[in-house]
Amino acid sequence: HWVDVQMAPPDKILGLSELYVKDPNPKKVNLGVGAYRDEEGKPWILPSVKEAERKLVVEGLEKDKEYVPILGSGPYNSAVQKFIFGHDEFGKKLIAEKRIVSAQTISGTGSLRVIAELLNKFYSVKKCYMSAPTWPNHLNVFRDAGVEPAAYPYYDLDTNSLDIENLLATLNKAEKGALILLHSSCHNPTGLDATSEQWDQILEVITKRELFPIVDMAYQGFATGDPIKDLGIVIHKMTKMHYENPEKLPSFALCQSFAKNMGLYGERTGSVFLVHESPEFISKITSQLKALVRPMYSSPPCHGSKIVEVILNDEKLYKSWLGDVAKITNRLNEVRSGLYDNLDHSLRNWDHLKRQKGMFSYTGLSKDEMLKLRSDFSIYGTDDGRFSLAGISNRNVKYVAEAVNAVVKK
Ligand code: LMR
Repeated sequence: HWVDVQMAPPDKILGLSELYVKDPNPKKVNLGVGAYRDEEGKPWILPSVKEAERKLVVEGLEKDKEYVPILGSGPYNSAVQKFIFGHDEFGKKLIAEKRIVSAQTISGTGSLRVIAELLNKFYSVKKCYMSAPTWPNHLNVFRDAGVEPAAYPYYDLDTNSLDIENLLATLNKAEKGALILLHSSCHNPTGLDATSEQWDQILEVITKRELFPIVDMAYQGFATGDPIKDLGIVIHKMTKMHYENPEKLPSFALCQSFAKNMGLYGERTGSVFLVHESPEFISKITSQLKALVRPMYSSPPCHGSKIVEVILNDEKLYKSWLGDVAKITNRLNEVRSGLYDNLDHSLRNWDHLKRQKGMFSYTGLSKDEMLKLRSDFSIYGTDDGRFSLAGISNRNVKYVAEAVNAVVKK
């Protein structure tokens, strides 16, 4: 029998899209979900992706629609491993020495969930430190996998800068051996990333407290406009540290997604990596990952992974994809400047907007102000003051900025 089913709260991000769709106001603006829109406000299929699909269908590169293996297609996994780790001296060595588990997952969320489930089964400390704030779904993913979320200070709303002192102080007292979630670049929701020096400080505490890092890389490319340059500083630093001093950093995980940088949102294409010094351990973990995935979703979908495979393995197409990523980043940066220019600087200091990177603008607007934007102007951003910049274009930037000015003035 059913027992006591109550209404679940709406999703903090996707719930907004539902409200937006229902809103009859023709001026409505969706600044909720982090999904790219072009200048016309329309979703954009990347030309490189269209070309890859043409090759799959018209040139017959796609031979079948068979099940892919439990941990994904072999060619996809090796192409992505090379793409992520093959640009780095130490990453190359890790590949050559077979010290990385690579598995295709159901995009970023899937990769986080799979690693969280694995750690819950085979790792002694079931607690994960996450930045405050972080992507709200991080908390759900880890909690539902049986890992308790804990917070480390990240963003100082008074100064709109990284709260590095309190961050380090909290991690210094973190439970030994706990998990820690890091954002490689384009921190979600704040758009504020640690500097190279700050990453060194963070990694030092991580090694001191023997924390297990899980890096989330969902917006690779949107900080600099180049996915390779954007391979977070932290990943370079971690591969080096792990390779040179495995006793300091015996293992780490990386969760990656092509949702944003290839626009493959609905294809659910991403990967999880786990680095460890022992190839024997890697074999065991691989077998356990298979045992974990098979009863959950059997195997990942194949269309998105075929697109990724074609793009990463075709020099011309790869170049054209890099151009697409640069185009997205340029537009986001133009929108950021446009918003900044149209805000009233006599009412509030907006300089932090210019320092932020990626798809989001962390405005510093309060929950009340965000609710007012929603009720009075049909502008839908998340309660924490985040705007997804993709929802803004030349057509509505003035409307959004003037609405913010009006809400702030009150
Ligand atoms: C976001 O933060 O808006 C994106 O990661 C989309 C999502 O699934 O929440």
